[in-house]
Amino acid sequence: MSIAETLRSVIRFRRVETDLVERRLARAASVADLRRIARRRLPRGVFDYIDGAAEDERTLASNEAAFARTSFRPRVLRGIEKVDTSTTLLGRPLAYPLVLAPTGFTRIADPQGELAVARAAARAELPYTLSTLSTRSIEEVRAASDGRLWFQVYAWRDRGLVREMIERAASARFEALVLTVDTAVFGRRERDVRRGFSLPPMIGPGTLVDGALHPAWTWNLVRNEPIRFANVLGRDVGDGASPVNLSDYINSQFDPSLSWADVDWLRSVWNGPIVVKGIQTVDDAILAADAGVDAIALSNHGGRQLDGAPAAFSLVAPVADAVAGRIEIICDGGVRRGSDIVKAVAAGANACMAGRAYLYALGAAGERGVDRVLGWFRADVTRTMALLGVASSDALDRSLLDLERR
Ligand SMILES: Cc1cc2nc3c(=O)[nH]c(=O)nc-3n(C[C@H](O)[C@H](O)[C@H](O)COP(=O)(O)O)c2cc1C
Repeated sequence: MSIAETLRSVIRFRRVETDLVERRLARAASVADLRRIARRRLPRGVFDYIDGAAEDERTLASNEAAFARTSFRPRVLRGIEKVDTSTTLLGRPLAYPLVLAPTGFTRIADPQGELAVARAAARAELPYTLSTLSTRSIEEVRAASDGRLWFQVYAWRDRGLVREMIERAASARFEALVLTVDTAVFGRRERDVRRGFSLPPMIGPGTLVDGALHPAWTWNLVRNEPIRFANVLGRDVGDGASPVNLSDYINSQFDPSLSWADVDWLRSVWNGPIVVKGIQTVDDAILAADAGVDAIALSNHGGRQLDGAPAAFSLVAPVADAVAGRIEIICDGGVRRGSDIVKAVAAGANACMAGRAYLYALGAAGERGVDRVLGWFRADVTRTMALLGVASSDALDRSLLDLERR
């Protein structure tokens, strides 16, 4: 064989990818990669708003660490030919056990913002939760997507405003309300404090340099319509037309005296399922089940509220034991791989929620980034179940986890 023939047999030239987004995505194989790309592409203040958490960020770290500490007990030779990842939540089907968590101010990562995430979620056959503090309105998101939509509610002091939003969500065929209960007051997110971060970002010497160093993001910001709290446009609570410090905004607008009585009130104004998001103890999980809500999200807001709150995943098994099938359980926080979702379901959750994973993807590569990460999660769940010797999500149980070592 000549040298030329030998070379030809071992060298394969890749097609040159001309699409810049595809080229960026081709270099990413994990959420950690997308996070790195988002960090490069977004101004530092914006990246830190997404990535950061409260105080020493210990709870943020422990959300991920709790998954990492738990290993599997894989079973082999079980003759699994096909894996079925589908399941149900709130009585309706999911392609795999995941719901997209509500995240405020999503357009800061990409001009399409919530519309992009809602479309990607619908393609993946997963529900998307729209935040009260979204930058696309309830109606705009419904117009963009025919998929499953949930609406997240904060307790504004003005309950009339909450009621109005709930009515709008009902008219727009949102199927569930998610009441977030871990935000009585705003957590101290020190990365934002250091930068004096406001929404939308205020222009000062630091932000000017940051913006100039990220021209693609800055160009998108100036050529698209201004970023606003789209659900309260023009209302006297403030819609972000002038920059707001999120901490001042939430502390002045949200009601810290929220209680279980408000859950009853919510039921009186909403006909569908209610999910309480931000349960952080077994005792409160039992109270939620007693209150008759449909599901709870075990959540510390991705570590953005009370630093020192327990990792969401560490609560799954004790809560599942305590409420024993009376209420559905969602594990929210720290999901970076499909194997995390499998661990949560095996421990006793019905599904997971994820926030930053799709935000990094959105910041790194827009809507196609979100498609990519949701596709990876689905493939991860399928592969993990195959390697565990489990054919369907209802067959995931604690015998597959090494929970003792946690
Ligand atoms: C940038 C950002 C904004 C968020 N905004 C909201 C919000 O408006 N309402 C809410 O209930 N939770 C909000 N969360 C919390 C998420 O719903 C979710 O609990 C959290 O992201 C889960 O942790 P993970 O990011 O590790 O997946 C936000 C999280 C992030 C990262």
